[in-house]
This record gives sequence, structure tokens and C-alpha cells, in this order.
Amino acid sequence: MLIRVIYVSTAVGPQTSDVTNSILKRAQAWNKANNITGVLCQGQGVYLQALEGERPVVTKLYSRIYTDKRHTNVEMIHCESITKRRYDKWSMAHVSLSDIDPQKKVEWPELDPYSFTGLLVMARIDELLESGSVIQSPEE
Ligand SMILES: Cc1cc2nc3c(=O)[nH]c(=O)nc-3n(C[C@H](O)[C@H](O)[C@H](O)COP(=O)(O)O)c2cc1C
Repeated sequence: MLIRVIYVSTAVGPQTSDVTNSILKRAQAWNKANNITGVLCQGQGVYLQALEGERPVVTKLYSRIYTDKRHTNVEMIHCESITKRRYDKWSMAHVSLSDIDPQKKVEWPELDPYSFTGLLVMARIDELLESGSVIQSPEE
């Protein structure tokens, strides 16, 4: 059975490109090998990640991510059974919120995903993905 989980978390240190690259390198390799797809949005001190895959695999991955010392205040904001993947093109797409185009910044000036509902977050992620400039998916 497939599920999709979305969580939000707070970065513990600065979200430098070194930190991002190490997370993405690991995520893209492991996720590809384990049939996980998703999106990692980051910036303004927060992470927002969608993970899709077989339920036991996502559950174990989420619990590993949950205890990762690079972030804290991990809150699951959405979890649902799915029949079709939404992010099936990416083992882990990356959206850097600092690269959002000015138009989107006007529409979405404050990023406070802790106050978002799951469905609203998914709509935002989809908007970000549609804006080609913010997608970085180096290995795909
Ligand atoms: C924000 C964030 C997102 C992450 N996303 C993934 C991911 O999608 N896939 C993955 O395998 N590891 C991901 N990681 C890394 C895991 O938390 C963990 O470091 C990795 O699975 C190795 O775990 P281990 O040292 O217990 O083997 C992420 C870490 C952070 C901080």
C-alpha cells in the first residue's frame, strides 16, 4: 500500500549548500534504491518534505529522518493512503525557497508551514514545482 507523508521541521544550523548537498545526495541515492519519491523544500530556516512510497518503507524512513540532528520540531502535517504518486518524477526534487521568483514571493511572503494544513501545503509545493527555476534534481 502506498502512502504520502508531509512534514515540516526547523533547521538546527544554517541551511548551507554543504548541508543541503549532503542531505540530497543521501536522499536521492537511498530513495531511488527504495522506490521513494518526493520533494524537499528548504529555506528561511525550515524544511518541508513530501515522501511517497510503500507504507513500511516510508514509516521507517520518516522515523530515521525524525531523529536526524540537523533539524528539530519535526511535525507531520499530512499522511494519506494514495493510489497514485504525485511526485513520481523525482527520487527527491529540491526546491530552494530563496530561489523563488519575485512574483511567487509576493504571493507567498511568509513561510510558516507549521500553520498550514496538509492540503494547502501540497498546493504550495505543486506551485513551486511548476516554477521550473526552483527545481534541482541533479541525478534525474
Ligand atoms: C530535512 C531532511 C530530509 C531528509 N530526507 C531524506 C530522504 O528523503 N531520504 C533519506 O534516505 N534520508 C534523508 N535524510 C537523511 C536521514 O535523516 C538520515 O541521515 C539518513 O537516512 C541516514 O540515516 P542513518 O545514519 O541512520 O543510516 C534527510 C535528512 C534531513 C535533515
